[in-house]
Amino acid sequence: MSSRGTHTVLNAQAKGGAISLVHPRWADFDAWAALRRENTEYLRPWEPDVSTHGLNRPAYRGRLSRLKKLVQQDRAYPFHIFRGETLVGACNVTHIERGTAQSAKLGYWIGEQFIGRGFARASVGAATTFCFNGLGLHRVEAAVQSDNAASMKVLQSQEFIFEGTARGMLKINGEWRDHDIYAKLSSD
Ligand SMILES: CC(C)(COP(=O)(O)OP(=O)(O)OC[C@H]1O[C@@H](n2cnc3c(N)ncnc32)[C@H](O)[C@@H]1OP(=O)(O)O)[C@@H](O)C(=O)NCCC(=O)NCCS
Repeated sequence: MSSRGTHTVLNAQAKGGAISLVHPRWADFDAWAALRRENTEYLRPWEPDVSTHGLNRPAYRGRLSRLKKLVQQDRAYPFHIFRGETLVGACNVTHIERGTAQSAKLGYWIGEQFIGRGFARASVGAATTFCFNGLGLHRVEAAVQSDNAASMKVLQSQEFIFEGTARGMLKINGEWRDHDIYAKLSSD
């Protein structure tokens, strides 16, 4: 992990090669918009807000400015995942709670053309280590629909433990969907 102010970079080794996790940058726009556009239908069953409306430069500028503020405020740490120079997905640490909770939530997606190469496993592993060792958090949580076998496998491989089911947790593709809650605690 390297960190310069709000410019954290996480490096990890995946089955499909070395990856790096970098905060979203202006230079990522073309690759990000293309990957999101190509994967609209792939992501629709799993993500709350899948739309092509925000895939333009003004919306991306606003998005970057919101994300930068969240990082500065220690509320979220969004990452684009790169295999070499190629953007393959994203992994976001969000909903950071300090005080007595010291917790965060994790969300991630990989473009369909890049799945099955261990990029999600490696990203979740690196982001979780960053939460514990870089941010000093105690608990990292992820919510998964119970029919998302690949995502559950990713979390289990990184020693996240199933804790229970949150009913009607998120509206996805027009329906309130139950989600299984997985979490990992720091060893401290
Ligand atoms: C879930 C997702 C992130 C996985 O990305 P990925 O890079 O392919 O994940 P990995 O390669 O690190 O690991 C996936 C594991 O699930 C397994 N897997 C894939 N599809 C599976 C299925 N239908 N049933 C069971 N296991 C499956 C893979 O074989 C792999 O296990 P292995 O490493 O033991 O072979 C990706 O498919 C995705 O972005 N899906 C849509 C968005 C999403 O679901 N995000 C997570 C929301 S909680």
